[in-house]
Amino acid sequence: MNDLKKLLPMLGHTSGKRSAVTCMLKCDNACSKAVCNTSANNYFRDIVSTEFSRRSAMGIGLAGVLSAAVLAGGNNGNGNGGQYDGGSNGRGGKLTFAPIKPVDAAVDAFNVPKGYGWQPIIRWGDPLFKNSPDFDFSNQTPAAQAGQFGYNNDYLEILRQPNGKKGLLVCNHEYVNPEIMFPAAPANDAEKAKRRNIFRNAVGMSVVELERSKKGQPWNYIRGGKLNRRITMDTKFELTGPLAGNALVKTAADHEGRFVFGTLGNCSGGTTPWGTILSGEENFNGFFRTNGSSAEDRRYGLGNAATGMGWEQEDPRFDARGEDFRNEPNRFGYIVEIDPENPNSVPKKHTSLGRFKHEGANVIIADNGKVVAYSGDDERFDYLYKFVSKNKYKPNNKAHNMTLLTEGDLYVAQFAGNSAGEIDGTGKVPADGSFDGSGKWLPLVVDGKSAIAGMGVAEVLVYTRLAADKAGATKMDRCEDVQPNLKTGKVYVACTNNTKRGLPGQAAADETNPRTENRDGHVVEIAERRNDATATTFSWNLLMLCGDPAKNTETYFSGFPASQVSPISCPDNLAFDTQGNLWISTDGAPSTIGYNDGLFKVGLEGSNRGKVEQFASMPRNAETCGPIIHDDESMVYVAVQHPGEEGSYTVQNSLFPDYVPAGATPKRGQVRAPRPSVVQVFQKG
Ligand code: FEO
Ligand code: CA
Ligand code: CA
Repeated sequence: MNDLKKLLPMLGHTSGKRSAVTCMLKCDNACSKAVCNTSANNYFRDIVSTEFSRRSAMGIGLAGVLSAAVLAGGNNGNGNGGQYDGGSNGRGGKLTFAPIKPVDAAVDAFNVPKGYGWQPIIRWGDPLFKNSPDFDFSNQTPAAQAGQFGYNNDYLEILRQPNGKKGLLVCNHEYVNPEIMFPAAPANDAEKAKRRNIFRNAVGMSVVELERSKKGQPWNYIRGGKLNRRITMDTKFELTGPLAGNALVKTAADHEGRFVFGTLGNCSGGTTPWGTILSGEENFNGFFRTNGSSAEDRRYGLGNAATGMGWEQEDPRFDARGEDFRNEPNRFGYIVEIDPENPNSVPKKHTSLGRFKHEGANVIIADNGKVVAYSGDDERFDYLYKFVSKNKYKPNNKAHNMTLLTEGDLYVAQFAGNSAGEIDGTGKVPADGSFDGSGKWLPLVVDGKSAIAGMGVAEVLVYTRLAADKAGATKMDRCEDVQPNLKTGKVYVACTNNTKRGLPGQAAADETNPRTENRDGHVVEIAERRNDATATTFSWNLLMLCGDPAKNTETYFSGFPASQVSPISCPDNLAFDTQGNLWISTDGAPSTIGYNDGLFKVGLEGSNRGKVEQFASMPRNAETCGPIIHDDESMVYVAVQHPGEEGSYTVQNSLFPDYVPAGATPKRGQVRAPRPSVVQVFQKG
């Protein structure tokens, strides 16, 4: 048994979602541990809402009245002053396809609709710089990895120049899979240390220039592109906002509390209207060893056990048991922002948005010009947050706009259902026909002052979960991506699952999280009051309760016939096309509905509301991440994360994306093993 397997105490355990390997490596077995949130929130839940009528809860009359300022926000912006447009979506797209059939979880294939082709843009180990070595799977080194594309790509953005011939790919790298990256056991301590250093260089972020002949054609990445960049554990980040310089973030190595090396557990993210990339530091706790004795440590899942990565064995800042580095874990768990057009810029960690397991953050510009960022805390029974900037967005002023996330108000969501008495945990639709109601954004920090008794601003921003407990936030079923639809201003929240919902001692099902032992997840739709993103009240309803209608009795697709949808489970990342359709990528379907994870298009308006159509299916053991829908040129992109994760170096579970046949000699740059990769899907012919 190698070291990693010794650290897999839950091998064989499944959480109702991911494989045991994913649980260990990605989130430090969070699902097998005690629930972090022991607050009494939600036991006083489900006050019947009278604040909003059903009509407003459904958002009728709000769509189509958004101001130009709102539509300029998010991924459609073109006001960043740089060479690339502000993000994903062009205009006027129409991407048509016949949905694919779900693929059995034992199959190792990447499937797309008829008429479409796919190929990787860049894979783990592909060299980024002129002097970076070619990938050598059997002889990887820390120095090589520092110059190569990282592992387990998650958030993805492709910025385009107006003529469409040059692009800029930005993505993050959440964690590593040692079991399939290396032969089973490191031979000695030197080899163990070498691998630890490879892992430090395989996480973080990548920026890569792209080129192609014309729009609609596949991209090639440019080795040696002048904007190419790797962000690793050795990259210096600047803390911004109220915590910069605060005692709670000072360590023996940073007496000023202003700079942090590296970013950890980067999961999803967002693209700002000013052309920067946001990334969420999610499962950072698993990298630290602490005394584990404080209420704050427990609330964040920090504990006194050897970590899976073992970095604390040679880098004292990951051993937070002593005084010198007690605060080091306080320096992770933030939204980070990088400017991909400036490879020498110092990336930021924005403390104003609070510290928790940020899945990501997505930005919209409110009518009054303030920037609003939505962010979910991906932990069972944790919360949904909103940040409102103090200052206003200025078109074509990137330097100013890059300060907007440093100062503002922070809120946490409280939901109330209007059919509370009817929620029995089965997912049965209430008599009024909807899971719906009203909500409040409860203040945590407003006008530079703490709104939480007994906690100052710094404490609220470092121990945000504890502040939100005190505020009375609603316990959610693991908020993953939270994203405003720029066509309507409505906000979508992917609640991926929560198999502890309603179990003894845990919060019961409520109208917002209506299924006990929620295995398949659901999607919440929020309409801010008067469609003002800065409002402190909202209405909401559920877009869908996921599952396989052929196997589950209680799914819900906003009234769309369940017999006509593609089965979908464990919604994770969200995106929109230019028509305002929602696209959902999943993570966990193999262990729930028995199909490989995939990418799905979902109609939101009219007779197509709730219609789910599968566009792509991932290779074996892989999670679908970072979808981008460039429907203006019929192209779709995904980051394929942890393919073949349940295999081993000697018995690989996936051969994606190179698919080198048995006995064949791999072509240059190819290997006969799985590689997390960014994939482009394009129309053939
Ligand atoms: Fe890294 Fe919340 O998924
Ligand atoms: Ca209702
Ligand atoms: Ca995710």
